[in-house]
Amino acid sequence: MSAFARRHLGVLAVTCGLLATPALLPTAHADAPVTNRASLKQDLCYQVVTDRFADGNTSNDDPAKSPGMYDATKTNWKLYWGGDFAGIQQHLQYLKDMGVTAIWMSPHVDNIDKPAVYGGTPNAGYHGYWSRDFKRPEEHFGTLAEFDSLISAAHSMGIKVIMDWAPNHTSPADPANPSVAEGGALYDDGVLKGTAINDTNGYFHHNGGISNYDDRYEVQYRNLADLADLDQQNGTVNSLLKTDANYWMSRGVDGIRMDAVKHMSSGWQRSFADNVLASKDAFLYGEWYLGSKTDPLYADNVRFANDSGISVLDFYLNIAMRETFGSGAPMSNLDAAIARTGTDYTYKENLVTFLDNHDMSRFLTLKNDATALHDALAFMLTVRGTPCLYYGTEQYLHNDTSGGGDPWNRPQMPGFGETTTAFKEIQKLSALRQNQPALAWGTHQQRWINNDVYVYERRFNNDTVLVAINKSGTAYPITGLNTALPAGTYTDQLGGLLGGQSITVGSGTGGNNPVTAFTLGGGQVAVWSYKGPEPSSPTIGSAAPTLTRAGNAITVEGRGFGTSGTLKVGGVTASVSSWGANRVTATVPSGTPAGTQQVTVTTSGGTSNGYALKVLSGAQVPVTFTVTNATPTNPGDNIYISGSIPELGSWSTDRNTAVGPLLTPNYPNWFGVASVPACTTFQYKFLKIAADGTATWENGANHSYTAPCSGTSATTVAWQY
Ligand code: NOJ
Ligand code: NOJ
Repeated sequence: MSAFARRHLGVLAVTCGLLATPALLPTAHADAPVTNRASLKQDLCYQVVTDRFADGNTSNDDPAKSPGMYDATKTNWKLYWGGDFAGIQQHLQYLKDMGVTAIWMSPHVDNIDKPAVYGGTPNAGYHGYWSRDFKRPEEHFGTLAEFDSLISAAHSMGIKVIMDWAPNHTSPADPANPSVAEGGALYDDGVLKGTAINDTNGYFHHNGGISNYDDRYEVQYRNLADLADLDQQNGTVNSLLKTDANYWMSRGVDGIRMDAVKHMSSGWQRSFADNVLASKDAFLYGEWYLGSKTDPLYADNVRFANDSGISVLDFYLNIAMRETFGSGAPMSNLDAAIARTGTDYTYKENLVTFLDNHDMSRFLTLKNDATALHDALAFMLTVRGTPCLYYGTEQYLHNDTSGGGDPWNRPQMPGFGETTTAFKEIQKLSALRQNQPALAWGTHQQRWINNDVYVYERRFNNDTVLVAINKSGTAYPITGLNTALPAGTYTDQLGGLLGGQSITVGSGTGGNNPVTAFTLGGGQVAVWSYKGPEPSSPTIGSAAPTLTRAGNAITVEGRGFGTSGTLKVGGVTASVSSWGANRVTATVPSGTPAGTQQVTVTTSGGTSNGYALKVLSGAQVPVTFTVTNATPTNPGDNIYISGSIPELGSWSTDRNTAVGPLLTPNYPNWFGVASVPACTTFQYKFLKIAADGTATWENGANHSYTAPCSGTSATTVAWQY
């Protein structure tokens, strides 16, 4: 048993409402997060740059396969420093003690064996984003056996392992300088398939580098820096990237962080997600990098998160948190970010929240203030979405030099002590997240705010958490505060770690119970929580995966499910595999209509709310649709596709439902990749949608198309006048 479990035995026993003998606890907590792979809503995620975390096996530090890419002195920040799978495994207990339930590992597949030399300095793929073989583990990180060992050790401790998958590109390949690295070589299980420098098979795009990161054609079809840009619509590439991802999933990986999702077509990625999810229920989230809160591609990122089956890292909130806790922005900035994302994202509770990562300055480099970090962590660990900590945050790790990001934000993990205030704060709030539905699934309501203080409430039915954060050095009297917490006295869930006090709540009406005035000191954080008895009627908080189809497994979570009942998807009764008061697992029934469909739970106590899933018509294939000579268009007009199947928008003319906007590198021709059901005939048309939303269909008869039964395909028609 972990030190954490030992310390908290008493608390857990009370929460579970059972006569605790230590042996009973694992059973009582059979709903530990790791058993629900499809959702991360109750989890605490921890991002590890494998090379910089811990060297568990020194024999792989400078492997014969790729010698000279290791720096034992740790002074060249762009070479390997020795961290590996074994090192992560050796520190699983540390992570478990902190409350981590999911590890996001930097990409683990084989990277370039020959350094990329820039300005005379050798660069290795120590970060993992320069793949050469998607089917083999990187030799600096360990053997396949060590990879398997890490996964099974993590699982035995209730920890999920999420792989970082980077299918946008292989590695540096500068046509002007062909000696850089390996020319973008792509291997499959040790067999060379081709290179970008001499691309005889058409595996790569050859459109030059991205110059305008706000242009949706350029970001998808040009190179990210000089990285050899894979063409996912090439049949071999499509199949390799999907097959190899499923290979790792079948070895026990629990979820996927998709790299650079802004740089690949949404259509291909939806077909990728379907391919993964058909063989394993898992949680997928992508990196859609937003340069600012007004990023011109923000709406595209929202559409991607809502439709593709791949959630996103919450860059919008990341920016707002750094502005508010790391610079001088007021608390209203956070409140506005929560409101905006809550409106835009269909599955806001699936966003993955973070304060910093391997591509930006560490928080303490932005603002060297431990209190500000504690305040920011408290916020991130109690708002909607899954918090993901960047390794070392709990040890107050800074960048090596002030400012900047990559690579100075990737220092060696400094140690594994379990006594820092940040460590304890994370531990306490993770324990609360796992047992408090209000944090995993609840609504968010601002209850009291000024420039420095934010008091907000999370609520799921009667389950309520009230959080108060004061980011300034000034104490504020908090008067006139109301809460849905029932009348009574509440102790701070952080045990006063950040200065929080108890509060007393009186009786009011309509969920507005008055809190006796109190003072929130400078920098203080307090968290008060109430978890009600199991309700007699069902409420759904989560259904996942959100992209599904008949035959796929789904997991539905909430409260008040009782001991038996009926689960329906789109009105069709599903066959249930397990039924518990808080979790039902089932198979999406055949005959479930495709499209956006509600999941409901019915028990003797009533019928729940609906939770919307995107149900596909069948197994998906990515098809490139091109229309030529679509004129005239005015500035702001875009061409879309709509058609007879939900995958093509069911003839909708709404720009959030039709497929698009299509891309027009060769105006007036437009194209786009859509994910459509394999082996299926459907009708479609192109339409023009103006900036004000006015839609104009092309004339003539519907186009008809039969999608292939596997692989990729493409079709071109002329706009009908
Ligand atoms: C985003 C990753 O997070 C970054 O570190 C990497 O260099 C690029 N994608 C390219 O893979
Ligand atoms: C409008 C399209 O022009 C037409 O072809 C299609 O059949 C209908 N939408 C379906 O409602």
